[in-house]
Amino acid sequence: MPRLFEPLELRSVTLRNRIGMSPMCMYSCDAKDGVPNAWHMSHLGSRASGGTALIIAEASAVEPEGRISPQDAGIWSDGQASAWAPIAAFIESQGAVPSIQIAHAGRKAGTKRPADGRGIVDDAEAWQAVAPSAVPFDAGWRIPHELTVAELATLKQKWVDAARRSQQAGFRLLEVHNAHGYLLHSFLSPLSNLRTDEYGGSLEKRMRFPLEVVEAVRAVWPAELPLSVRISGTDWHPEGWSIDDSVAYARELKQLGVDIIDCSSGGNIPQADIPVGPGYQVHIAERVRREAGIPTMAVGMITEARQAEQIVSSGQADMVLLARELLREPHWAIKAARELEASAPWPQQYGWAVGG
Ligand SMILES: Cc1cc2nc3c(=O)[nH]c(=O)nc-3n(C[C@H](O)[C@H](O)[C@H](O)COP(=O)(O)O)c2cc1C
Repeated sequence: MPRLFEPLELRSVTLRNRIGMSPMCMYSCDAKDGVPNAWHMSHLGSRASGGTALIIAEASAVEPEGRISPQDAGIWSDGQASAWAPIAAFIESQGAVPSIQIAHAGRKAGTKRPADGRGIVDDAEAWQAVAPSAVPFDAGWRIPHELTVAELATLKQKWVDAARRSQQAGFRLLEVHNAHGYLLHSFLSPLSNLRTDEYGGSLEKRMRFPLEVVEAVRAVWPAELPLSVRISGTDWHPEGWSIDDSVAYARELKQLGVDIIDCSSGGNIPQADIPVGPGYQVHIAERVRREAGIPTMAVGMITEARQAEQIVSSGQADMVLLARELLREPHWAIKAARELEASAPWPQQYGWAVGG
């Protein structure tokens, strides 16, 4: 039995294999109300029926100002939670575990969706972005508002409310988005956090707000359900956040009851020199897993069945997440099972197509 097709248990949740769908913004809430729609059902549902064990719905904003683009999904309202509920239920009906990534874009909020040409949104549509420090992401970006300590407390409550709504919607694994230069990552990194109060300066102080958020989220997320945190393992910059920092951070997250660390990288500065190539972030998952003693997910240019099997069977990570390859091939997991001589059933409705 290939390790890739062995189940993985996280608290009371059993994943049928070690393959997950990485969260991907679809920029498809056309009414700009953050409410997921038929597109999200089709997009996530087809990968659930395609044999994937874990489906992580896209970065969903904990408040409207936390959207990356106006068309992002949200989880800041009960109406959004109600719209997510049938999607989560369908994912589960296909034998996959429904999950959602709760997010706040921080200083990277307010960009056009890719289909509209990228760059920051026009003034008429813009909103005030927030950040640890009044440092824009790049030249030409709007200056974010430096959050006060009182505002941090209010914001923390939005994460907590989003976690509660995620549970009401039927999601069974929650992921906190702490990567890619968005709000929580920007607190961690000395490149974006220039504060001199208790939320900036030393590593300990830079970790404080993200850890407070995770602790508060863990307190309301049910004890029987697993919690994931996606980190950027490195800023790919000599003065930035490093893998050593990530190991220290993962140890703290483990203490707070986080079950698995989703190891991505980059996104906090525009000029990073990232050695993109097959499996280019796997070493981060490996180091965090080994040195912090916590399960990890590896992500980033994992496209081949044998590559994925190698990552989990060699102990570099407990599972793999695929993003773009699952856009190209919704049935990737079923096909990988065939290649590795494991079993993952086609949906019975498709039996005529596959001779089953
Ligand atoms: C269209 C698209 C949208 C994405 N949206 C998110 C997101 O919402 N949250 C996130 O953490 N990463 C997001 N990512 C990053 C992916 O989850 C993944 O980490 C990255 O694409 C590398 O994996 P891959 O090489 O398998 O595509 C997105 C990537 C793509 C291509």
